[in-house]
Amino acid sequence: MKFSNTTLSLSKGLSHQAVTLARQIATAAVAATCLLALPASAADEPKGNVEAAKSKVSMCIGCHGIVGYKASFPEVYSVPKIAGQNDKYLQVALRAYASGERTHPTMDAIAKSLSAQDIADLAAYYSSLK
Ligand code: HEC
Repeated sequence: MKFSNTTLSLSKGLSHQAVTLARQIATAAVAATCLLALPASAADEPKGNVEAAKSKVSMCIGCHGIVGYKASFPEVYSVPKIAGQNDKYLQVALRAYASGERTHPTMDAIAKSLSAQDIADLAAYYSSLK
């Protein structure tokens, strides 16, 4: 094992203080990585951007109607009206489909493909419609 021999002789050459410092840095790096892996807290939830949503609604229009319009094909299935719906309600609904808490074949797939930012943008957009 060439690598570990090199590491060993390197460690031997280092002073005790340097090794301690290196360990502290490694611990800090691991802690930082863990922090990054945590789900975003409520405080840094993305802010919805109505303008940004305009390039994303093409995914929704086909079923949720022409922008601002209610439903598409009631004879096939009814689609809920989301235009003018409450911002938080829309976000909660989309996250529920994404997490599997709420299920619907198409909405599950769509919600899973959305980022937190997409959800915030789309909710801001649809809630801004009258
Ligand atoms: C293939 C058709 C289809 C597409 C595309 C689609 N939806 Fe839906 N959506 C539905 C149907 C049908 C429901 C009702 C499902 C149910 O009963 O839970 C629904 C439900 C929802 C709900 C919950 C509404 C409520 O009143 O609880 C939200 C929010 C929603 N969709 C947002 C979106 C957004 C945002 C997009 C685009 C990113 C989108 N949908 C794309 C068909 C679609």
